[in-house]
Amino acid sequence: MTSPHDQVEPTPLTWVEISERALMANARLLQKVAAGSKRSPITCVMVKGNGYGHGLIEASRCFVKAGIDWLGVADIREAQSLRSAGVQAPLYAVCHVAPNQVHAAVKLGLKLTVYDAQTVQAASRAVHDLGRPCHLHLKLETGTNRQGLRHDQALQLAQEILDTPGLVLEGLSTHFADIEDTTDHGFAKQQLARFQAGLNALRDLMSSKGEDPNQLMAHASNSAAVMLWPEVSLDMVRFGIAAYGMWPSKETFLSAQQLGRRPLDLQPAMTWKTVVAQVREVPSGEWVGYGRTFQALRDSKIAILPIGYYDGYDRRFSSRSQVLIGGHKAPIAGRVAMNMVAVDVTDNPTVTQGDEVVLLGSQQAPDGSVSALHAEQLARWIGTINYEVVTRINDRIDRVLKD
Ligand SMILES: Cc1ncc(COP(=O)(O)O)c(C=O)c1O
Repeated sequence: MTSPHDQVEPTPLTWVEISERALMANARLLQKVAAGSKRSPITCVMVKGNGYGHGLIEASRCFVKAGIDWLGVADIREAQSLRSAGVQAPLYAVCHVAPNQVHAAVKLGLKLTVYDAQTVQAASRAVHDLGRPCHLHLKLETGTNRQGLRHDQALQLAQEILDTPGLVLEGLSTHFADIEDTTDHGFAKQQLARFQAGLNALRDLMSSKGEDPNQLMAHASNSAAVMLWPEVSLDMVRFGIAAYGMWPSKETFLSAQQLGRRPLDLQPAMTWKTVVAQVREVPSGEWVGYGRTFQALRDSKIAILPIGYYDGYDRRFSSRSQVLIGGHKAPIAGRVAMNMVAVDVTDNPTVTQGDEVVLLGSQQAPDGSVSALHAEQLARWIGTINYEVVTRINDRIDRVLKD
């Protein structure tokens, strides 16, 4: 027999709160910036990587509500999840959809990035079988050497697409190699010039085949490009990181200043939380955790948190990062384990079991002061980028929309 107690849904020990208000404000701000002085481009927000860790479905719904036109996914699994959740917005896959997944992709109405004949042939079979069109975006190689086709190869594949009934050559895209890595944008400018040459040639080809070249959408801009060069937004922009309230890099921030751009008021949307599982008294001289890498140099108070590298709290945070408890920073004591981590709270005597802990985001102290741990700070501690910090948070952790 089950007791009423058993029927209560256990509360999670760790969860990620997402500010709907922040996501929507960022999306609208970027939409406005991308519009620049010309007609508004289509806005495609990247929700790949579980919405940059913010929750694929949750983030997508916020962006759609904010008026975003398209959602950018990595692959067919993300597209399937969105359609199953009832998200109807146009979906565009920017990474790899294998030829044997193309039939299912066409069924979902997923727009595809193409860079090989096999995918085009699979799309041709799918449109024939299903009697519905497939929208393709050719990827042009301009210097990243990740997915694109060189100029002549792109024109050849375009010809094949244009000659196949049911296939719609909807777009031509490219992706910058280093726009966010540097304040010298010489290479990105070269990429843009190569892209423009490829675009002109493709539009000429379309005209020669009696197709309307203006139907073709050109797109290249990610967050950094939207922020630095809104005047080259072309027909569509594909921004990710900035929609989640983060700058692509400090170089992008500096470049924006150098270019005299008005600073964008981006609002980080994520707060990652857990609770104190246990508070322990550890006498001076004793060790904490695996490998005995932390020794108490005074009689210490150690809080154990039910979170570890399985959850996406990187093992390299060991003895390096901090968390917020009671609105104050407290250092990680020793190694991050798979499901647990210790924090030195000796200087915060009020900490008790069940207290809320912020791993990423901000927290208010009882005196009203607010402390914050930004993704950029966490990234610096472990030698990575904010993109990785937020996307590595385990998908199984609940994303909860706030405000
Ligand atoms: C093809 C493509 N476009 C756009 C983006 C968005 O980039 P960002 O998050 O820097 O705006 C990405 C992200 O990796 C991408 O792969």
